Formats: sequence, structure tokens, C-alpha cells
Amino acid sequence: MARTLREAVARGHLPEGGRLPGHRALAGALGVSRNTLVAALAQLESEGYVQARGRSGTRVVTPPLAAPGAPPPLPLSAWARRALAGGVADSGGEFEFDFRAGQPVPELYPARAWAQALARRAGAPTPHAALRDPLGPLDTRRALCAFLNAERGARVTPDMLLLTGGTQSSLDALARVFLEEGRLAVTEDPTYPSARAALAASGAEVQGVRVDGGGLVPSELPARATLLYLTPGCQYPTTAALSAARRQAVLGWARGCGAFILEDDYAADLHFLGRAPAVMQGQAPGEVILLGSFSKSLAPVTRSGFVAAPPEVTELLARTRPLTDRVPGVLDALALADVLASGAYSRHLRGVRQMLAHRAEVLLTALAEHLPAWPVVPARAGLHLYVPLPGEAQASETVRRAAHAGVGLSAGDGGAPSVLLAFAHLSPETLRRGVRRLAQALA
Ligand SMILES: Cc1ncc(COP(=O)(O)O)c(C=O)c1O
Repeated sequence: MARTLREAVARGHLPEGGRLPGHRALAGALGVSRNTLVAALAQLESEGYVQARGRSGTRVVTPPLAAPGAPPPLPLSAWARRALAGGVADSGGEFEFDFRAGQPVPELYPARAWAQALARRAGAPTPHAALRDPLGPLDTRRALCAFLNAERGARVTPDMLLLTGGTQSSLDALARVFLEEGRLAVTEDPTYPSARAALAASGAEVQGVRVDGGGLVPSELPARATLLYLTPGCQYPTTAALSAARRQAVLGWARGCGAFILEDDYAADLHFLGRAPAVMQGQAPGEVILLGSFSKSLAPVTRSGFVAAPPEVTELLARTRPLTDRVPGVLDALALADVLASGAYSRHLRGVRQMLAHRAEVLLTALAEHLPAWPVVPARAGLHLYVPLPGEAQASETVRRAAHAGVGLSAGDGGAPSVLLAFAHLSPETLRRGVRRLAQALA
């Protein structure tokens, strides 16, 4: 009853200042008992919708809600305006053959090991310290250290690690403490659009430095910068690996100008041809901040990543991050500790890498057969193949014609016109049929 009357006031059926009929008449008109009506009116009075005025009856004292119309503009902050300007849009749509990048790959998820670890941890009491540690549970940081040092050639100790909700959250935390208007952040060009957007939202200037077939060109780095976002293991999106000589040159540059290198090691777990190169962080733990993410493998259930930084940076983040985000998902972090420490994650990755190698090979072979003129870059890691094209117009025309034929492609970003074909989420048969359809569309 109270809801009905409240709604009538909000819609203006009972106008402000209007007097309600007497209790008996109103109860009769509404088909409820007088007691029910009186209780409902008392409730509305306590909420400030009506007021009982003794003999002069009950009056409505709230104006109706404004009629729906265009709401006034939101009072956006400068950060929000920059974040919206740099937002990363998905091209949208559904395709019979969908090669667009950024799609979940169910086979990357270590379902059994994860379910067992999670069940075990959920059934046991969570140590109090694990809930309170601003860096994330020590068990997880220890397991992660062992994994990174043994398998990624890193040089980290638990006090250098901060657990986050993934790379995006790591970038945000770092941008907050190191960037502001008047500072310069450098990325590769082309780069991972979500990283550039997170850095640019800080208000700092973001400058792209050219990438060629060997990754970032160090001689084109600016004289000084605060941060450099770099994907040396598998450049995103060109998939090039940065050579040892270029790594040295970039490290020399960072030392010279006091910049931190944010090394995004996103593809190491997805390295399917040969061994992943060791991380640069192992060469220069004072200059390199390593960013890692389990969001590819654990994406169906959780987001999980980390920052491995010099202890003074980790300490800084431990003090600032709680303002925007507490330690994400402690239970997930504890399960992660177990799948890492038991070796289950590494065993799972061996199968993942075989699967990726096979699918990449199927896609390469199909492209060589049906689109032999395409300059496809054969990747060693990651989830997509990169195809540089001669001009922006040709890249967007390729995406458009493919879409028209039911084939989804991603257009490359930045100064290098290209298309990306993600392969890991598609079966070999779908890859072959999709390439045949693509070739027909572009014929
Ligand atoms: C270059 C690159 N870095 C990092 C990530 C992982 O980001 P997050 O942990 O925010 O999902 C991705 C995922 O698509 C990526 O492509």
C-alpha cells in the first residue's frame, strides 16, 4: 500500500499540497482496510511524502519527480574527460568467423587445478595476516617469486611484489604515483591501446616511439621521460622480440634519464615457439618494473596480476594503493599460491603452449595458401598474428570487406597500419574455413 501511494506521489497523480480523501473513503476506494491505510500513511509520513494535519486531513508535501528528459551533463573531472577520450572501443558486432583480438580462450584456464586449490583454501580458515597485507598474501608473493625467478629469469624478493587485479590496475596504480601534467610517458608505437589510455588519463603527455621488425627503435627515444611502457618479450601488437643490443640501449637510456621501464611481460606464459626470453627486470631490477597478469589464463573466474618493482616503489604503492583498491581477491590469491607452488600451473602451460603452437601453425599455413601476398609476421608468442598493410585506408578497407563476409578482424593501432588475426580461441577447422572465407572476401 505504501509503495502504491509513494508511486502515485512520485508520478504526480497526487500533486504537492493536494489533500488526500478521508481515511475511510480512501481505504474504500483502494480496497484495503482502514488500518492498512493508516499504517501506510504513517510510513509515508515518516519518509516525508505526506503530512497529517489533524482535522484538515493529510496533505502531499513532496513535489513529483521531474519528468524524464535529458539529464543535465555530469560534472566530469579532467581525469574522466581524458579517460573517456582515450577509451578503448571494441568494434562490436558478431561474426561467423571471429578473428578479433582480446577474446577469451577457454583452454588457457587450468580448470581442475584451480578448482581444487580454491576449494582447499575456501574450506580452511584464512590467516588474518593474509587479509591485511597491503602487498597481498605472503604465501602468494613467495610462490610468485619462486616462479618468476626460476621460469622468467627475474630477480625479485617477496617485498618487491604487489598483487593487483591485473595489468590495467597495475598501470593505474603506477600512473597515479609517477605521472601528472607536465611529465612525459613513452610507449611503443604501435602499442597496447589500453596501456596508453591508462597512462594518458593521468594528464601526462604520452609519446609513441617507432617500432620496426626488431621492436622499439632505441635511437628514437626522447631525451628524458618519467616512464617507458615496453613489451620487450613480444611487442604488442607486432610480436617482435627486442634484441639483446636494443635491450641494453634502452636500459642505458633509462639509467641516463632516471626513467622507470614498465616491462609488460604479458606473453611469456603464451610463448609457444622456443623459450620465452628472460625478462629485462632480471638485468636491471633497479630500473625495470615488471608487470604480469594471469588474466588470460584465469579470465573466466578472476582477475589477477602483479607489479614487481624496486622495494621503495613497492613500499610507495603499498601506502597509496589502499586509497583506490584494497588487496583484490585474497582467496583467489591463495589459490594462485598453490597452483604456482605445486607446479600445476607450469604443467598446464606446457599443454597450452602446444595448443597455441598448433593453432598458430594452422593459421599461418592457411594464410600462406589462400592469401600468399599478405606479409604475415610469424609469431613466437601471444594469441594473434600481425599483418602490416601498406596504408591506413587499406587496413580499414580490409576490416570492412571481411566484416561484410562474416569475418571479424581487428585493425592495428597507431602509426602502423595493420590487421590482427587472433587464433588461439578458434579450432583448427574454424581457422581454415575462416581464412578461406576471408580470401574470398578480399579477392
Ligand atoms: C599487451 C597486454 N598486456 C597486458 C594484458 C593483460 O591485461 P589485464 O591484466 O589488465 O587483463 C593484455 C591483455 O589483453 C595485453 O594484451
